[in-house]
Amino acid sequence: MIEIDVDGAADPRALRNALGRFATGVTVITTRGPDGRREGLTANSFAALSLSPALVLWSLGLKAKSLAGFVAAGRFAVHVLRSSQTDLSHRFATPAPDKFAGLEVVDGAGGVPLLPGVLARFECRIERTVEAGDHLLFIGLVERLAYDDGEPLIFSAGQYSTPRFLRVASSQDDLEAVWGGLG
Ligand SMILES: Cc1cc2nc3c(=O)[nH]c(=O)nc-3n(C[C@H](O)[C@H](O)[C@H](O)COP(=O)(O)O)c2cc1C
Repeated sequence: MIEIDVDGAADPRALRNALGRFATGVTVITTRGPDGRREGLTANSFAALSLSPALVLWSLGLKAKSLAGFVAAGRFAVHVLRSSQTDLSHRFATPAPDKFAGLEVVDGAGGVPLLPGVLARFECRIERTVEAGDHLLFIGLVERLAYDDGEPLIFSAGQYSTPRFLRVASSQDDLEAVWGGLG
C-alpha cells in the first residue's frame, strides 16, 4: 500500500492512480445551448445524489468549451453507455466542431439531443451549480428517465473494461431491496 500526505495538493499522477482504483460507468452528457448549438462530452463523474427528490450530479472542467452552453441551457441529458459503446465514449471525449455529426439523435425536452441505443438515460433540469476547485458541479433534478437491460461500459485505472463477471441487471429484477438498504 502506497501512502502519501497530500493536504489538498496531490501530485496529479498519484491522485489519478488512487482515483483510478475507483471503477465507474461511462456517460455521455448532452445539452443544447441557447444559440441552438449541441454540446456533449464523455463524463465518469456522474453519480446518484438523492432518491427523493430524484437528484444526480456530475462535474465539468472549468476550461471545457461546452461549459457556457450547459450553464445557459439550464438542462442536460445523461446517457449511460453500454459495454459495446466505446466508440461513442471516444467521440464525445475528443474535441470536434460538431461531435454529433453523422449520429442519429432525437430532441428531448428543451431540444436537448438524446442518443439512441444507450443503457439508461436521465433528462434533468439544473437544480444548482457549485464551483469547486477546477470543476463546476452540476446537480440535476431528474424529470424523465429510461433504461434497458444490458451490460454497462466500465472505466477503471484509465482503461475501458467490461463487467463479464458481473450479473447483468434485468428489468425483471426487484431493485427495491437494494435501494431500500441504501436509503
Ligand atoms: C472516461 C472519461 C471520463 C471523463 N470524465 C469527465 C468528467 O467527468 N468531466 C469532465 O469535465 N471531463 C471528463 N472527461 C474529458 C472530456 O470528455 C473531454 O475533455 C471533452 O472533450 C470535453 O468536451 P468539450 O471540450 O466539448 O467541453 C472524461 C473523458 C473520458 C475519456
